[in-house]
Amino acid sequence: MQRVRRCDAGATLNTSHRFAQALALDAADPLAGFAAEFHHPFDVNGRKLLYLCGHSLGLQPKSAAEYIEQELADWRRLGVLGHHVAARPWIEYHERAAAPLADLVNSHPSEVVAMNSLTVNLHLMMVSFFRPSGVRNRLLIERAAFPSDRYAVVSQLRFHGLDPDEHLIEIAPREGERTLRTEDVIAQIETQGSRLALALLPGVQYLTGQSLQLEPLIAAARAVGASVGVDLAHSIGNTPLRLHDWNADFAVWCSYKYLNAGPGAVGGCFVHERHAANSALPRFCGWWGHDKSARFLFEPDFKPISGAEGWQLSNPPILSTAPLLASLGIFQRAGMPALQRKSASLTGLLRSLIEEQMAKDIDIITPGAPAAFGAQLSLRIARPVAEAQRCQQRLAAAGVIGDWREPDILRLAPNPLYNSFSDVVAAAAALLQALRG
Ligand SMILES: Cc1ncc(COP(=O)(O)O)c(C=O)c1O
Repeated sequence: MQRVRRCDAGATLNTSHRFAQALALDAADPLAGFAAEFHHPFDVNGRKLLYLCGHSLGLQPKSAAEYIEQELADWRRLGVLGHHVAARPWIEYHERAAAPLADLVNSHPSEVVAMNSLTVNLHLMMVSFFRPSGVRNRLLIERAAFPSDRYAVVSQLRFHGLDPDEHLIEIAPREGERTLRTEDVIAQIETQGSRLALALLPGVQYLTGQSLQLEPLIAAARAVGASVGVDLAHSIGNTPLRLHDWNADFAVWCSYKYLNAGPGAVGGCFVHERHAANSALPRFCGWWGHDKSARFLFEPDFKPISGAEGWQLSNPPILSTAPLLASLGIFQRAGMPALQRKSASLTGLLRSLIEEQMAKDIDIITPGAPAAFGAQLSLRIARPVAEAQRCQQRLAAAGVIGDWREPDILRLAPNPLYNSFSDVVAAAAALLQALRG
């Protein structure tokens, strides 16, 4: 019962049958043991917090410290020799992430690489895949794209001497709606037709939690001859992805959200295998992308490694890649299909509790159709913004950690690796209490 009691509000509300059901679900949950593999935050009074904020920063795997300590020890013990004889030799350290990342996005290992951070990778990908020429000189994104993506695409347009007012095409939900319709995005792609150079799509929209139907969107963009990239910041480790089969040209992601690899963790990149050996593709180059067999011959001419690794610039930061390997080890043991099943149940439970008990006060923005959402629910509290913010503060004071995104969205994301069904019931009870004031 300890996990249930830790959230004060839960004990004060008449939700005992829900707690009983949740405890039964927890008892039958094959993934329940993974929660003990993470450090759960505590408040200043030593009370364990109920963490529903993995869409922003995932919790720390306990194994992260061992992975980092291993590298510190090898560096201490071996100095430069660690590049070749460390327990996990540093020369090929990042390669250990390739197979588990490929499992998460369903690609070949050679199509993915752990490197840099999301926005850096987005720029590197646009160097290769946003190549405006003649009338094909437009770039399509969603109007509510994460600001860093917008800054990146606007700066790329300007870099090519193009005016964003004319060449940036922004798609938005219909008047009075809050999420994108697949048919509207496809219609816009088709309208742009031969003028479209690149479509940049989100996997899961960061504000609304909507999981986009990537397969038909990617197909539509490719059908008009455009390149397609996907921002998977809120998707990787969260929703089902089949990047290779879907034929995206590229994808980029960060690893600090659902991948639990720590603040500012090393991000990643997917490049479809049809581009693997295309050395004519323009790219920005660095020595870590150069032919591995010749890297230490220090030759003047760049010959890219075939595959996503050929886009690397620098030798990988070992200490910050270590927690990524630790976390990916957990994903390998848990398996995405089981995680996704539990995630849908956890988030579905949160939705049904809100709908049952708080329908008058809370508007759920995240779509509820199967496959249209991941772990996150985006909620709008039907009160003036200042009062809605006070509700969020009361929720935080009760020990439930979600986050607030301007202008008026509360985001909560039960995580199948470290949250339980009891957590969800306790969070819903705390939310109800926070609404009551
Ligand atoms: C959807 C999305 N895109 C891009 C970014 C920027 O990521 P980074 O700071 O790692 O470049 C974020 C960060 O949260 C994000 O949520």
